[in-house]
Amino acid sequence: MERFTVSLEDELAEEFESFIARKGYKNRSEAIRDLIRGKLNQERVETEPDSESVGCLSYVYDHHERDLARRLTDQHHGHHDISLSTLHVHLNHDRCLESVVLKGKTPDIQAFADGVISQPGVLHGRLFMVPMKEE
Ligand code: NI
Repeated sequence: MERFTVSLEDELAEEFESFIARKGYKNRSEAIRDLIRGKLNQERVETEPDSESVGCLSYVYDHHERDLARRLTDQHHGHHDISLSTLHVHLNHDRCLESVVLKGKTPDIQAFADGVISQPGVLHGRLFMVPMKEE
């Protein structure tokens, strides 16, 4: 394990301490490690287009929205090679929540997520992606 010293302006240090407390980190090192990992993962996703990733895409949609449920199902069948599994929850009379596990080429996962999130009637779409490459 490597050790290094970081200097922070007082204001940034204060914000960081409050971030650590809010997130429940036991110490600064663990928080810094997570921040670095997150940034490196994001960087890898952006700079290595052939990389493989697993993704979890979650979104809420209004199932009364004209044709939307069928369009979403079409999307999943059209990409059955990367769409591994879907959890569907009927939130209330109108809204459904779906969480989809995706696995494949990073840009394919991103494109699938963009295609779902941009559908009219899909709300609060968010993709979480993790590179398959060993760290
Ligand atoms: Ni439903």
